Amino acid sequence: MSGQGRDFDPRVDLGRGLVLVNPIGVASGTFGFGFEAEALGSIEHLGAIFSKGTTRLPRDGNQPPRIAETTAGMLNSIGLQNPGVEAVARDYAPRWASWRVPVLVNVAGADIAEYVEVVARLDGVEGVAGIELNISCPNIAHGMDFATEPGAAGRCVAAVRRATSLPLVVKLSPNVTDIAEIARAVEDAGADALSAVNTYVGMKVALYARRPVLPGAGTAGLSGPAIKPLALAAVAKVRRAVGIPVIGIGGIATATDALDYLVAGADAVQVGTANFTNPQASREVVEGCLAYAEQHRLQCWSELRWRELDHPGWQETALPVD
Ligand SMILES: Cc1cc2nc3c(=O)[nH]c(=O)nc-3n(C[C@H](O)[C@H](O)[C@H](O)COP(=O)(O)O)c2cc1C
Repeated sequence: MSGQGRDFDPRVDLGRGLVLVNPIGVASGTFGFGFEAEALGSIEHLGAIFSKGTTRLPRDGNQPPRIAETTAGMLNSIGLQNPGVEAVARDYAPRWASWRVPVLVNVAGADIAEYVEVVARLDGVEGVAGIELNISCPNIAHGMDFATEPGAAGRCVAAVRRATSLPLVVKLSPNVTDIAEIARAVEDAGADALSAVNTYVGMKVALYARRPVLPGAGTAGLSGPAIKPLALAAVAKVRRAVGIPVIGIGGIATATDALDYLVAGADAVQVGTANFTNPQASREVVEGCLAYAEQHRLQCWSELRWRELDHPGWQETALPVD
């Protein structure tokens, strides 16, 4: 890294041999499978790419409207539009194999069998650097997310762990009572790293029509700057609960946002919704973080971490909110 302090090491080790050249990735569903950005020459700066959620069979996703703008964010209910794992393994992975930036495939499933089948198909495929398991998918057998109950989350991750030797990142949902409990179950089941968080459940209403803007139940996933303080709190909570690396996600649009997550306990981050409003956002975040490291003579990113997080006697002493 030219221009950095002599001893500064910008790399991040996410476990099982997955070492990123810098801690900045792009979030699932906001960067497709990377090909549009490749055409614009906009992938080489990245530490990692997390692909769109991939399922066993191709999916068209939900009927529009499926996105809506909100104050400082957006709602989406895309419905996992993707070409299916066969096309990803056969057509996309060989193209990724020639890239310097590692691509992790985000995997979704309706039941444990689907997760396992998709992950097994990707195991050992050249160009697939790892799996990001999206466990915030409704379980068809029980109608609830795997991510909302520690037992279900653990069983899903343990089954996937047996199906692959690839680095396994498990993505947590913030729509739970205690994210720390889920994080611990997932760590115990064999995850190499965690990503936190997925979108928050939200709703936008059209007063003139006296109904929600989006169809169905009217709810959808909220992302963007609006969720950053919520996601930072979730990341700090997860950091205290587990020993494995944590990737912070939620409302990151600038280098300062990314560095804030490193303070709150993240080892790496992902830029999501900001890719839509500013296609250069991830490049600006990488450049800004490296400039900060140089200016502050960092030797490694973990120097930024809030010291209390690693304090062995740390107790959660929540102060009254109001
Ligand atoms: C349009 C859109 C599609 C998304 N698709 C996925 C997906 O397929 N799998 C997944 O795990 N997360 C998906 N996400 C969630 C993002 O990866 C990220 O966790 C979330 O948007 C919060 O980060 P942000 O505020 O920086 O966008 C999607 C988000 C958006 C906005």
